[in-house]
Amino acid sequence: MNPLIELKNITFTAHKKTILDIQEFQIYDGEFLGIMGPNGAGKSTLLKLLAFLDQQTSGDILFRGQNIPKGNAPLDLRRKFSIALQQSLLLDGTVFHNIAIGLTLRKIPKSVIKEKVAHWMELFGISHLAKKNALYLSGGEAQRVNLARAMIVEPEILFLDEPFSALDFPTKIKLMEDFKGIIEKAQTTAVFVSHDLMEINYLTNRLAIIVNGEVKQSGSTPRILEHPNSSTQSFLNEWKKFYPLAR
Ligand SMILES: Nc1ncnc2c1ncn2[C@@H]1O[C@H](COP(=O)(O)OP(=O)(O)O)[C@@H](O)[C@H]1O
Ligand SMILES: [Mg+2]
Repeated sequence: MNPLIELKNITFTAHKKTILDIQEFQIYDGEFLGIMGPNGAGKSTLLKLLAFLDQQTSGDILFRGQNIPKGNAPLDLRRKFSIALQQSLLLDGTVFHNIAIGLTLRKIPKSVIKEKVAHWMELFGISHLAKKNALYLSGGEAQRVNLARAMIVEPEILFLDEPFSALDFPTKIKLMEDFKGIIEKAQTTAVFVSHDLMEINYLTNRLAIIVNGEVKQSGSTPRILEHPNSSTQSFLNEWKKFYPLAR
């Protein structure tokens, strides 16, 4: 299978410190890839490079086999991506307006926008919030709006950086359950950064563990969680003390 995105000899250096050093790494069509690791490991940095939101110091990033010039990813390529972060970064305006924004920027006809926003609000269970100002939502509601806004443009890849981390447990599990159903139905490729074993175990098929800016282990999520290697076991075993690995 040809990778959707491929990294070759990637480094990212800031203030003379190497933050990422990845010899090779691939993302495949249709997978839900988890990127997990301790705080400060380089997860968010990696996600930003993959989404062309930041530039590598050296190395190549390929999209469907084509080398993308550093710092110069074309707009039509960037428009294949969506990103959702821990902070939902909603704009002052209605929920409807916030979810519509990607389509408005693409100059989609208003009648189509109305239909699509209604569809995605329904999937995320937020139709009743359409006219509310997005700045006055609860954390869970705001994250639903954020994810609907990211999905409405039907991205080829959805990048997620700790979108559930700030939510209380009952809100988190309800949203993760809904989100899993939505993404499986849409068959969107997803790259999901999290430090949380429960989230990773529930959502992802494949997993990469990053420690100190290096991918120390990658492969099927259940296999890695059951068989950490010598570089990932100290991180994973801390989690496993508190989390039973039943799917
Ligand atoms: N632009 C930058 N300048 C300086 N240091 C950075 C920059 N970006 C990230 N870092 C540092 O790189 C390390 C990895 O950061 P990050 O990717 O945010 O980690 P994670 O998401 O795994 O918690 C941290 O030590 C962080 O302080
Ligand atoms: Mg981070």
